[in-house]
Amino acid sequence: MARLSQEKIDEIRQSVDIIDVIGQYLSLEKKGRNYLAICPFHDDKNPSMSISPDRQIYKCFVCGAGGNVFTFLQKYLKISYIESIKKVAEIGHVDLSDYHLDVEKRPVKKENAVLYQMHQEAQKIYSYYLNTRLGLEAKTYLMKRQFSEELIKEFQIGYAPIDSVLHQSFEKLGFNEIDMVKSGLIIESKHHFDRFNDRIVFPLQNQQGEVVGFSGRIYKPTQHDSKYINSPESDIFNKGQTLYHYHKCREAVKQEGFVYLLEGFMDVIAMYKAGIKNTVAIMGTALTKGHIQAIRRLTSTVHLCLDGDSAGQVAMSKAARLLSEAGLSVKIIILPDGKDPDEIFESDGENGLKEILKKVLRPIEFQMNFEYQFVDNQNYDDRKKYLEKICLEIAKLDDELDRDYYIQELSKKSGFSYDVIQQRILGSKPLVEVKKPIYVETKINRQFRDRYEKAEFELLFYMLVSKDVASKYEAKAGFMYNDQYRVIASYIIDYYRKHNQLQIADFINGIGKEELVQTVIDISSTQLPLVYEEKAIDEYIQTIVSHAKKAKIEQLKEQYHYILDPLQKAKILQEMNDIRNEKE
Ligand code: UTP
Ligand code: MN
Repeated sequence: MARLSQEKIDEIRQSVDIIDVIGQYLSLEKKGRNYLAICPFHDDKNPSMSISPDRQIYKCFVCGAGGNVFTFLQKYLKISYIESIKKVAEIGHVDLSDYHLDVEKRPVKKENAVLYQMHQEAQKIYSYYLNTRLGLEAKTYLMKRQFSEELIKEFQIGYAPIDSVLHQSFEKLGFNEIDMVKSGLIIESKHHFDRFNDRIVFPLQNQQGEVVGFSGRIYKPTQHDSKYINSPESDIFNKGQTLYHYHKCREAVKQEGFVYLLEGFMDVIAMYKAGIKNTVAIMGTALTKGHIQAIRRLTSTVHLCLDGDSAGQVAMSKAARLLSEAGLSVKIIILPDGKDPDEIFESDGENGLKEILKKVLRPIEFQMNFEYQFVDNQNYDDRKKYLEKICLEIAKLDDELDRDYYIQELSKKSGFSYDVIQQRILGSKPLVEVKKPIYVETKINRQFRDRYEKAEFELLFYMLVSKDVASKYEAKAGFMYNDQYRVIASYIIDYYRKHNQLQIADFINGIGKEELVQTVIDISSTQLPLVYEEKAIDEYIQTIVSHAKKAKIEQLKEQYHYILDPLQKAKILQEMNDIRNEKE
């Protein structure tokens, strides 16, 4: 079996375009030559990650994360270097069958590995029981609700029997009871038993697609417990981060250009029955920051479609505001008769559902109708309050035409004149501004400790650009004062021993440490002219050399003080003189 050489790794990296790969996970916007995305590696508000198709690297100008396609996948999917190479090879159709790569698989044991493992086992066990005699009635229920075998498989739906089958299996598999309870799947009272019993179970996955919990539904008229019970929050299950179907919707969201945000997983499944796959669901909870953050990584447009009942509409009003404030474009769909998508699919079929989904409202339209329900037209105070509320919303609109149009609408609905409303809106200044994504300038003010550090940084930039500069550094200086820069310089020189040109995205493969990679990306992304003058390079080198000399002299001076032996002292003096007299 061949060893994976650096050349092979370069070939794999060059087999894909970083834009396509990152584009599978993040929503990208083109800005000039580069692409911008919401950075997934910090709590990003604006798109601050820039991805360069020319240089095949990414860099976040806020948190500093940066690297190539391998480092992105490693960090984003929390996988090892080797796994990231395998993944890219797969995408780029590079055959690795001659290479033996499995030895390094999962070198580090993942935190909470045992909890993930239990959920994986549980999912298999539940799936198994759905197809046994014990699961017959549950299966019949699913069939009645038009769940095909394909659908059951797709959503990995299972059945939790009355007996504590998980606990028994977990014992056989050697899991300990503390972990079992920690997983939330097993409950401890006098003895241990399964949380889910006699329910149809739906696995809930995290953003990476790992099962982290379940929701269990009753299915018999004789069952009077709550309709659904869910796994409790655990070390691996965070409800505020979990969106049902998130890990599977990416492709469809990309195709359609937006995502449907739904109320429950049954709605996701109903939409799936109608062939609509760009869906996610919050599961009966309020929309959190974590959800919004996740959605923003997916797309910039949301079609909000919560239940059509009044609770659903209140939730929509709130969710629409939060999503808009986060810079997302929102459309709202009101389902008739207080129904949910599942009920509409049931009554109106695929085409009926699709028709209804086409009727999208802008948030302002929704808000105007929604608030109007509470207005008694005979009551002046009601009308005035309504006017005040909607004025605030209209004031947020950027487009003058839109404002004009909705002032007219508001005038019709509220019975106040156009002029009065307009004055009111102008008077409600300062206009509440909708937070729009602000593009981070790609130039940041870098603070250097002193001019020496700056010279080292800039010289490194040109060493990355040109082999000649690197050779010159090696011959004339060979030393940098900043520890990180010195190491990077030596990596560069090493690299040029084998290559005449330096491709930044390949170069960083040889560097193991994340901080070093980030610094390299930082240096190479700095805005310096690519064309350089020899003189400028000489100046950098001179600055560095003279600093090194000074530093050496300082060091010698210190030694001189501490050493008592006169002979040694003389030697140090001599050395100091030599350094001072060295030709610049
Ligand atoms: P719904 O009551 O709208 O359920 O709850 P549904 O999606 O229409 O399901 P079916 O069609 O009756 O089977 C929406 C979400 O609220 C949570 C669940 O996550 C569900 O997906 N929920 C609901 C609970 O957690 N517990 C409950 O008792 C009810
Ligand atoms: Mn329903």
